[in-house]
Amino acid sequence: MKAIVLEAADKPLVLKEVDNPGLAPGEALVKIKAAALNRRDYWITIGKYAGIKYPTILGSDGAGIVEAVGGDTDRHLIGTEVIINPGSGWGDDQNFQSDDFKILGLPADGTFAEYVKVEVQQLHTRPAHLSWEQAAAVPLAGLTVFRALFTKGKIKKGDKVLITGVGSGTGLFALQFALAAGCQVFATTGSGEKMERAKKLGAAAAVNYKSQDWAEQLLHLAGGFDVIIDSALGDGFAKLPDLCNPGGRIVIFGGTAGNIPALNGRKIFWCQLQVIGTMMGSPDDFKAMVAFVNEHQIVPVIDAVFPLADAAEAISKMEHSSQFGKIVLKP
Ligand SMILES: NC(=O)c1ccc[n+]([C@@H]2O[C@H](COP(=O)([O-])OP(=O)(O)OC[C@H]3O[C@@H](n4cnc5c(N)ncnc54)[C@H](OP(=O)(O)O)[C@@H]3O)[C@@H](O)[C@H]2O)c1
Repeated sequence: MKAIVLEAADKPLVLKEVDNPGLAPGEALVKIKAAALNRRDYWITIGKYAGIKYPTILGSDGAGIVEAVGGDTDRHLIGTEVIINPGSGWGDDQNFQSDDFKILGLPADGTFAEYVKVEVQQLHTRPAHLSWEQAAAVPLAGLTVFRALFTKGKIKKGDKVLITGVGSGTGLFALQFALAAGCQVFATTGSGEKMERAKKLGAAAAVNYKSQDWAEQLLHLAGGFDVIIDSALGDGFAKLPDLCNPGGRIVIFGGTAGNIPALNGRKIFWCQLQVIGTMMGSPDDFKAMVAFVNEHQIVPVIDAVFPLADAAEAISKMEHSSQFGKIVLKP
């Protein structure tokens, strides 16, 4: 099969012929109809991700058709249209993943290929209202944001929610999911055009995080927030506690803009705020996320679709955050 292989730190990504993976009982081979990018693919290609190994087939998100299974028990799955939970080995505790937790596209070989091998428990029926490209965009970002908003952030109808960097793959799912849950959603983003696009999608207001006074603008527009979903961290993070209502929750799962700066700790304890870390999600979160996507007929925002061979060009779009939504690859 053809696959996008990361061969070494200083080598460009190449599309090359590799062996089809063999299957053990409990495993399935999925013929990929579409795959999608996450920022981790970019971090891995620039060497900024833990545990990088060579060679690796990148890609955590995929949708396709089950072509083969290991053993006889799962033969009924052959021919089914699926999306793939990129995480496996979560373990028994809903609160955090086990040491055996693995993600497709490092360390397991990923979806930027004609076929991918996964465990059958990772397979979920493709939402019928989504095209292959849209279905492939859902798994990792949808899962992470679903857990961030509901399992950890405990959003409820009427809450005021802030999404930072809303143009990201995760940010737009956060906007769509929080709106579907009946929240009033505000956003930060990096350009005037993206501010307008976020408002068209239902954001009550959007401000540019590059303005000096973005936090003051938000306070003026919204008053304060019950839940903030942040995957940027960086200098801007220092202002987030000041934007929270008493008892507010800031849920974090990424650090696109750097690390956490010095914080006003007094604000955090006096207002009984919580800063909560989250990481992808459990199989239960994934199942609930897919049900939510079906129930609310969520349609992911696709920024662009590239042929698989152009994966390097697609990933380079993330360098300057020029995308608005998910970037998709088609084998
Ligand atoms: N731990 C986990 O389970 C998990 C899961 C998914 C993602 N992540 C992490 O979460 C982050 C987002 O992932 P993604 O795949 O959605 O990324 P992405 O699609 O590449 O989006 C990155 C976005 O970051 C935003 N951004 C850049 N500088 C910013 C700043 N100073 N302040 C606020 N926002 C800024 C931009 O938003 P605008 O376009 O609006 O300007 C950009 O679109 C990444 O760091 C990723 O590694 C972690």
